[in-house]
Amino acid sequence: MFDFKPDATASKPEVYQQLCEAADALTAGEPDAVANMANVASLLWEFLPELNWAGFYRMGTNASGADELVLGPFNGRPACIRIPLGKGVCGEAASSGETQLVDDVHAFPGHIACDAASQSELVVPVVRDGAVIAVIDLDSPRTSRFDAEDAAGIEALAALLASRL
Ligand code: SME
Repeated sequence: MFDFKPDATASKPEVYQQLCEAADALTAGEPDAVANMANVASLLWEFLPELNWAGFYRMGTNASGADELVLGPFNGRPACIRIPLGKGVCGEAASSGETQLVDDVHAFPGHIACDAASQSELVVPVVRDGAVIAVIDLDSPRTSRFDAEDAAGIEALAALLASRL
């Protein structure tokens, strides 16, 4: 049985450090990307408060063979399955390769509302050999839920996972 939980007294950077340590322990030596994303989606849900969605979109292709994001393992309500590059917060993170920290999703042009409860969002690309292979997406029902410490923590997680997805 796994029992990964953050210390109750941990600061936010410490919570992310513990989350990365747990993700490292769960994914080390496991080559199956879906299994690794599923366990990390669970850790995100367990470790981080005030979320209504946490998980992955993977880089895939559409019917014409063009790159687009495809829903991966997550926790939260059922979500849109395919997101074209450049569309919404996830598509912007995937096409730019840059973290997207959005305080108010209603003010983000083209935001894709998968859950009407979402108010703020953090999307971090997972980059391997210079290419975006997935994004980690966190949604919160609270406006301005995410800050630079959250972005740094999820970026560290993305770097850890780059060779394991
Ligand atoms: N809001 C995202 C879509 C994914 S859901 O939040 C799970 C976006 O605008 O890309």
